[in-house]
Amino acid sequence: MKYNLSEISDLIRDRRTVTPEYYSDRLVHREQVERILNNAIWAPNHGSTQPWTFKVFLKDGRHQLSDFLCELYQKKTAREDFLETKFNKLKNRPKMAGAVIAVSLKRDPKSTILELEEIEAVACAIQNMYLTCTAWGLGSFWSTPKLIYTPEMNEFLGLGEDDKCLALFYIGYPKEGYEWPKGHRKPIEYFTEWVEE
Ligand SMILES: Cc1cc2nc3c(=O)[nH]c(=O)nc-3n(C[C@H](O)[C@H](O)[C@H](O)COP(=O)(O)O)c2cc1C
Repeated sequence: MKYNLSEISDLIRDRRTVTPEYYSDRLVHREQVERILNNAIWAPNHGSTQPWTFKVFLKDGRHQLSDFLCELYQKKTAREDFLETKFNKLKNRPKMAGAVIAVSLKRDPKSTILELEEIEAVACAIQNMYLTCTAWGLGSFWSTPKLIYTPEMNEFLGLGEDDKCLALFYIGYPKEGYEWPKGHRKPIEYFTEWVEE
């Protein structure tokens, strides 16, 4: 065995979504984010297009994201559909997090690789980020409010029209005494068909 499979399996199973409501105000450092991104980019990607781009909101930069999400939600939401709880999450979560990383698909317009495959590659990068955070004891959360799929979001992030924001990835140290959640999955028999002859 090349690596400790038991430890890697534990890490994969222990990866959990932890939302910013459970983060403490302990700082997440730029060097940690760099380490997380340096693992993200080792995700598999067809044709070696490396189709990801990251925008990191750290320290006061988190307020820019919060302000933008609030404005956009107000702009895009009809009065009768406006939800205070939703608005407050968009406003407060970036500030509760140690860092927020907008993870996007960066499309080369001349790419011969299917967009679907490039989205899959970015999703693999996000899983690498999740696992790195878990190893560190950092909570993390892949968030996809519908606003991230708008042209306004692309403009805010400096993306082109063929690019797509796929995640707001929140990171933070859990509060003192936080009980790391246990996950549940059905056994593989539910999903697997074997063909052996
Ligand atoms: C593509 C994708 C988008 C997601 N978007 C959201 C989201 O917008 N809000 C949310 O609460 N969780 C979101 N999640 C996280 C899932 O809710 C979470 O992974 C699921 O509940 C299983 O929990 P676990 O991650 O702890 O195993 C997303 C997950 C994926 C893969």
